[in-house]
Amino acid sequence: MFRNISVLLVCSVFTQCLANPDCSQPPKTEVFTDCCAQAGIMKDILKDCNKKFPPQANHDNFCNGECVFNETGISVNGVIQKDKLPVILAEFYQDMLDVVPIAIEMIGKCTRMVEPELVRVLENKPDKADDCNPLPALLSKCFFTEMFLHCPASIWQNTENCNHAKEFLKHCPKHQG
Ligand SMILES: *[C@@H]1O[C@H](CO)[C@@H](O)[C@H](O)[C@H]1NC(C)=O
Repeated sequence: MFRNISVLLVCSVFTQCLANPDCSQPPKTEVFTDCCAQAGIMKDILKDCNKKFPPQANHDNFCNGECVFNETGISVNGVIQKDKLPVILAEFYQDMLDVVPIAIEMIGKCTRMVEPELVRVLENKPDKADDCNPLPALLSKCFFTEMFLHCPASIWQNTENCNHAKEFLKHCPKHQG
């Protein structure tokens, strides 16, 4: 009995007790949109933009991100509506209002995190590959990753696939970027 308790304690301190995921086997993309619940309108917009601008396996699809920002009203004429974000997010998570402050925090964090990446992307942008603004794509990727990793328990799908995907994101940092 005491041994079991100490194993539990050790496991809660050292996450190595969880089987390390195989980093060459990324989870299916559906998992990333389903595990941390999104309100219906957000799901529809993501689906719509994925249809118009299919995500690419090997490089970023900047138009996909720009499409999401346009459709949601986060971006108007190419300008991100910072002041309206709390209202827009409250609409997305209308049945899960406890999630809104976390989402706002993650957007703030991501705005700071993507700055150096944006500079790097703009410097190395492949000629004419994609005419869209890279910022929305970088911000949404960061946002969904952060929301996924810090998903409130109330909206987390506690399934084997979802938990595995979270371990993958935590332990295989290469795949976050
Ligand atoms: C987003 O909106 C801007 C400004 O209205 C427009 O120029 C751009 O083409 C739109 N982007 C996409 C991917 O639909």
